[in-house]
Amino acid sequence: MESIKEIFQKEHDEARQGEAIMIEPTIANASARKLYIESYGCAMNFADSEVVASIMLDMGFQTTTDYKEADVVFINTCSIRENAEQRIRKRLTDFRAQKIAKPSTIVGVLGCMAERLKAKFIEEEKLVDLVIGPDAYRDLPLLLSQADDGQKAINVLLSREETYADITPLRLNTNGVNAYVSIMRGCDNMCSFCVVPFTRGRERSRNVNSILKEVAELFSNGYREVILLGQNVDSYKWLDETTQELTNFAALLALVAKVNPLMRVRFSTSHPKDITDEVLQTIADHANICNSIHLPVQSGSTTVLDRMNRNYSREWYLNRIDAIRRIIPGCAISTDIITGFCGETAEEFKDTLSMMALVKFNYAYQFSYSERPGTPAAKKMKDDVDDVTKAARLDQVIALQRGHSLEKLKEFVGQTHEVLIEGFSKKSANDFAGKNDQNAVVVFPVVDSYKKGDYVQVLIESCTSATLIGKIVN
Ligand code: 5AD
Ligand code: SF4
Repeated sequence: MESIKEIFQKEHDEARQGEAIMIEPTIANASARKLYIESYGCAMNFADSEVVASIMLDMGFQTTTDYKEADVVFINTCSIRENAEQRIRKRLTDFRAQKIAKPSTIVGVLGCMAERLKAKFIEEEKLVDLVIGPDAYRDLPLLLSQADDGQKAINVLLSREETYADITPLRLNTNGVNAYVSIMRGCDNMCSFCVVPFTRGRERSRNVNSILKEVAELFSNGYREVILLGQNVDSYKWLDETTQELTNFAALLALVAKVNPLMRVRFSTSHPKDITDEVLQTIADHANICNSIHLPVQSGSTTVLDRMNRNYSREWYLNRIDAIRRIIPGCAISTDIITGFCGETAEEFKDTLSMMALVKFNYAYQFSYSERPGTPAAKKMKDDVDDVTKAARLDQVIALQRGHSLEKLKEFVGQTHEVLIEGFSKKSANDFAGKNDQNAVVVFPVVDSYKKGDYVQVLIESCTSATLIGKIVN
């Protein structure tokens, strides 16, 4: 499992995008039909693919890591920026060649691009047999049987209720230590640049009991970290119809933390307008809720934030940063930044740079604005910052953040941190890799008495631009 830092879209090298996720075949059955599934985009998409895999397994499918031997090829898509869609279109050309080589192959497009383009997808990409939106995965058995009959099958209905609460996701490509747990779906915020409210529909929260059950099961299966997922976790709310008890996000966090003190709890994404002191206090009160908050700022300029319909000002954001620093000293803060949004002036852009200098984020995902059809910005505003300026501003943001990230990592050197071992380091089986509470990756020499899933105390001795290096001092 990748770092939580990798659960957001990245402009330049979307590390998880394009990565195939594989299902461990559970039962060897030579006659079973084979599924290949590949996911792009945000963590929610990866979590959704685990729901899809679970439904397909129930239908008797087995999986393969090679799309060339699959009977069904699924691609779970992302629409957040134009380049994400372009990457997916390119990948579809590989699947087209496969369909020509083996015409019985069924190709299905899932997720946000399916929702955005609907039937148009089938008109534009003749190889596609199935188009399924994010709320329609329960319909897979019917849709697949239509496709098997040679029909084009499509379901892009959005739902006000669907949370897949009762479906136990089939963990894909898992390290057995950390797992995503979806706590809500959709988004009601309508940030003017964002396509998500249109592709994932209205916000709805998942039954708290089903979340706690999933977390408890994960713990008994050896998992030691859950990442609670929602587009805007701070607006989580679940009303128990019988007791009339309302669980908000702070209460949910506390309940999840109590499942077991050895289970680390992370979450994403927080919204600056909604994150409350109650949530911050809950993090501070529970040792196993990690001290790391992803709080997308998008821009440091109040006037740009207004045009983005973010519903907070620069001052409000800085006030929330102060609250985090006051209530959870040492908490890591990461962010998302967009350069070149509609009408962004040089002055407004400077406000983003000064915001970065004031906060010194531990980590940032940086994007240049990409107009998405149908969004409020596309309808009402001009995408008038030219590409060269957008890119130059993005470069400035990246360069500034690189310095801040390194500075933040250096602060850890000389300290001893509790690290959850996630496995061997990518570079060497002589090293373990894991993360500290603040979500920084830590690499340290293997000590035989420890294994993945264990907590160890690591003295941080040095760092590179992205990694802390140390040794176990238990
Ligand atoms: N253009 C560029 N970046 C975008 N994001 C969302 N929509 C767009 C867009 N149209 C970024 C935001 C968000 C992250 C997931 O993706 O920063 O927080
Ligand atoms: Fe998009 Fe804004 Fe919702 Fe995030 S909060 S998914 S940026 S509309």
